[in-house]
Amino acid sequence: MASLFDTFTLKDITLRNRIAVSPMCQYSAEDGVINDWHYGHLAGLARGGAGLVIAEASAVSPDGRISPADAGIWNDAQAEAFRPAVRGVKAAGAVAGIQIAHAGRKASANRPWEGDDHIPENDPRGWPIIGPSAVAQGGGLSRVPQEMTKADIARVQQDFVAAAQRSLDAGFEWLELHFAHGYLAQSFFSRHANQRTDEYGGSAENRMRFILETFEAVRKVWPEHLPLTARFGVIEFDGQDEETLTEAIELVRRLKEGGLDLIDVSVGFSAADAQIPWGPGFMAPYAKKVRDEAGIPAATSWFISNPAQADAIIRDGAADLVMLGRPLLENPHWPYDAARALGVEKAAWATLPAPYAHWLERYRAA
Ligand SMILES: Cc1cc2nc3c(=O)[nH]c(=O)nc-3n(C[C@H](O)[C@H](O)[C@H](O)COP(=O)(O)O)c2cc1C
Repeated sequence: MASLFDTFTLKDITLRNRIAVSPMCQYSAEDGVINDWHYGHLAGLARGGAGLVIAEASAVSPDGRISPADAGIWNDAQAEAFRPAVRGVKAAGAVAGIQIAHAGRKASANRPWEGDDHIPENDPRGWPIIGPSAVAQGGGLSRVPQEMTKADIARVQQDFVAAAQRSLDAGFEWLELHFAHGYLAQSFFSRHANQRTDEYGGSAENRMRFILETFEAVRKVWPEHLPLTARFGVIEFDGQDEETLTEAIELVRRLKEGGLDLIDVSVGFSAADAQIPWGPGFMAPYAKKVRDEAGIPAATSWFISNPAQADAIIRDGAADLVMLGRPLLENPHWPYDAARALGVEKAAWATLPAPYAHWLERYRAA
């Protein structure tokens, strides 16, 4: 039985523990290029003791950004800017990962602290948005996307491939495809967002197609020896949950057959009237279901901040990794505190580089 501070090996990569930094947009890049803020953020979280640090959703194309300040990885300057972040994360003993994304109909929005709504259509800061169908997300995201043509679909899929290659070139050793949270890939799977009548819409088979094809294309360029993972919303909490979960598990099975190494189980966020049962670890039972039924390593997140709960999620086999977000913003050294709380004190610092580990060992022994 594994526990929170056991190592985790996936392909040729071994994480020092089961704590991962969940991708978190900083909405602080310029022209998609990350900067000093991101370096401190990412390296600081690695130094805090997490095993894996996944850099924020990085857009595969300019129109795939959520906001004008999103990170991007569609050109070489952006990839180059990630290099110091990758080095900083690795130097602190963590594995550097990145999430690549296209925001679809949720693109061209104001930053969360500036409204979180769509930039008005005639505002020069914004851009035309695309989606599977001409159906708006809803809420503050009221703009109607342009329905994608087959050429648009092929273009975005190629953008994912190019972004995966650039991620590898930048030194990342763990790739997460963002197929969740109502962004483009999730919206192809969603009955709410996808009302197409061609082979990309209608039946579950057709709604899975965009994700399966995108994954297959990326699989060809991402090395076999490094983890290729995806984040996917397996449930919407919209009253059609049994059906959605069944379809989602089938999709995860197929992704696994096609070479997916781990599924990061999350929420769909595609249904405007969803009733999400927010609460500590509320997604863990769904991660367990997907992990068991699709037979694939899994990660889970959402409101996991209690060390005993995080440990129990791993021990119970609900997930192989816990992905923490806000608890690590609040306390980047959460892993230290968790190790102490769980009575495995040494795990807090033993895996850190010597300039910390050496002193902390003596300090704690005194
Ligand atoms: C500031 C912030 C930015 C986020 N950006 C992303 C992102 O880029 N990609 C993603 O998949 N999820 C994103 N999320 C969701 C987190 O990865 C995480 O799943 C969520 O916050 C729940 O975990 P928590 O309760 O530990 O914060 C973001 C969350 C926050 C708070």
